[in-house]
Amino acid sequence: MSNEGVDKGRRRFLVASTSVVGAVGAVGAAVPFVASWNPSAKAKAAGAPVKADISKLEPGAQMIVEWRGKPVWIVRRTPEALASLEKLNDSLADPDSAKPQQPSYVPNTAARALKPEYAVMTGICTHLGCSPTYRPEVAPEDLGPEWQGGFFCPCHGSRFDLSGRVYKGVPAPTNLVIPPHSYISDTVILVGVDQETA
Ligand code: FES
Repeated sequence: MSNEGVDKGRRRFLVASTSVVGAVGAVGAAVPFVASWNPSAKAKAAGAPVKADISKLEPGAQMIVEWRGKPVWIVRRTPEALASLEKLNDSLADPDSAKPQQPSYVPNTAARALKPEYAVMTGICTHLGCSPTYRPEVAPEDLGPEWQGGFFCPCHGSRFDLSGRVYKGVPAPTNLVIPPHSYISDTVILVGVDQETA
């Protein structure tokens, strides 16, 4: 008898829960319908391409644009920084970008870039998704004498070089992702459109 009472109570709870879920579902379904009246919002949500004007980016500086809700970093590397990339290969987990973390038209070189001077990458750590910090200094005290500039993830200590290549022995398993992008002029990068189709 008492079991039956419990079952009845449980059934009532399930019925009540289902109707709440139903109500939430109805509200959720209304949102895309409203958004469809606004093409720019809809295009944005679908990941419309984003232009980045790099004309004022100084050597050594970083700029950030947002694409599909994620930060995309563009870093203008100095000649010294570019020269240091090759020297790091022995310290890196995947120096030749063997694991596919970049579009096929981005060379698997140390620079990992369409134009070596400009690194473009998604600023999300490949461990658990924190956003690493840009640390361009060479051999700062907290990162040690081997540090040639790169990105440091404060969450669990992953390290990446200035091409987003991950160091050995850190929690992040792969290099940072390079998003689809192309140059539409010498000073404008279009993030979200592949080089071939631009
Ligand atoms: S999220 Fe970056 S090290 Fe864990």
